[in-house]
Amino acid sequence: MSKEIKLRATVRAFILHLDGESFRLIQGDARQIIKYLTGFKFRAIITSPPYYRHRHYGGDNHEIGRERKAEEYLESLTQVFTACKDLLTEDGSLWIIIGDTRRQHEKLRIPHRLADRLVQSGYIFREDIIWYKKNNVSSSARNNFSQAYEYVLFFSKNRRSYTNLDAVRVLGNEAAEGRNKQPPANRIQYLPKNLDRNEIMRISHIIHKASPQTPISKLPTTSEIARAYGYDPENFCPTCYRKFKRHATRRRVGDHRHYPIFAVCNPRGKNPSNVWEIATRAHYGNEHFAIFPEELINIIIRFATKIDDYVLDPFAGRGTTGIVSTSLGRKFLGIDLYKENVDRANSNIIRSYSPQANLKRFSPPWKC
Ligand SMILES: C[S@@+](CC[C@H](N)C(=O)[O-])C[C@H]1O[C@@H](n2cnc3c(N)ncnc32)[C@H](O)[C@@H]1O
Repeated sequence: MSKEIKLRATVRAFILHLDGESFRLIQGDARQIIKYLTGFKFRAIITSPPYYRHRHYGGDNHEIGRERKAEEYLESLTQVFTACKDLLTEDGSLWIIIGDTRRQHEKLRIPHRLADRLVQSGYIFREDIIWYKKNNVSSSARNNFSQAYEYVLFFSKNRRSYTNLDAVRVLGNEAAEGRNKQPPANRIQYLPKNLDRNEIMRISHIIHKASPQTPISKLPTTSEIARAYGYDPENFCPTCYRKFKRHATRRRVGDHRHYPIFAVCNPRGKNPSNVWEIATRAHYGNEHFAIFPEELINIIIRFATKIDDYVLDPFAGRGTTGIVSTSLGRKFLGIDLYKENVDRANSNIIRSYSPQANLKRFSPPWKC
């Protein structure tokens, strides 16, 4: 049997097994392994490929990131991610955490060029999230700013993809941003109480009928409207932590251009922004990886997948995507070129085992 056929048979056998297990890791070149995964579908592919000319992970000359020219590196990644498209469900998405490379003061625009190539290959470019590393280390360069962020590129296979914004909404975001203090728990009101329909009708009538001649004193205040809608004006909103009496949007009423009208935030929280402020950790123990915080992957998994979905990481490294996927009840397949990384990812995922995640028996990593 030729090497090629043997490899294909091994990967196919592997696929048959994933159904009954929570995760699997395969050792090999992602470009090759992905070809043999045809027919298997993932709801999300979440990965951080080696950055261009940042570090060496071993001595294998199939290692991506060590190409002499940026174009060659981009070609390797395009090859992997274009093949990944066939492995996504029709509503699936691809997430790439990637940084740029600077050469002689020039930024090579690696993330932007990769995004252009993937759009040309048919992906929909949904978002370029900034992962702001709030504890970034100041650089000693004399002419450049310190690099304090990386990109999280979000693509979908089709125009519509599976997303669950409710799973990642932000509560108390204004407190987090230092604008409002966190109120005492017993003063936060989640749901309306004693909503007064007659009062709502009376207030709506006044607002609707208001003319330029209506004096401001005849218009309802935000406190009155809040009370009518069942919110105590002295209580706090669970989403933005503002008092309900200050919880307003501005509207033209009569001739009053900026009249404040009571508004309610979504009680499940606000939409998160596309800047994610997440601290990075230099190393996990003695592992020397470009650290990819679990918190970052956690947001993506909850937003882009459901329980029992399949998640793929073609550059698994220490297995962060696998750790978070399995702990959130998703099934995971990881690929890495090096045996040490596959072994490490395996033990990291096992170590993070939580009984709630219902992690099933694992098999030794497959070598291809
Ligand atoms: C940035 S690291 C991934 C880090 C990972 N996200 C984590 O949480 O640890 C990139 C990984 O890609 C692997 N790699 C490099 N070339 C590869 C290839 N051709 N196929 C598969 N994996 C490769 C490296 O061994 C390295 O572990």
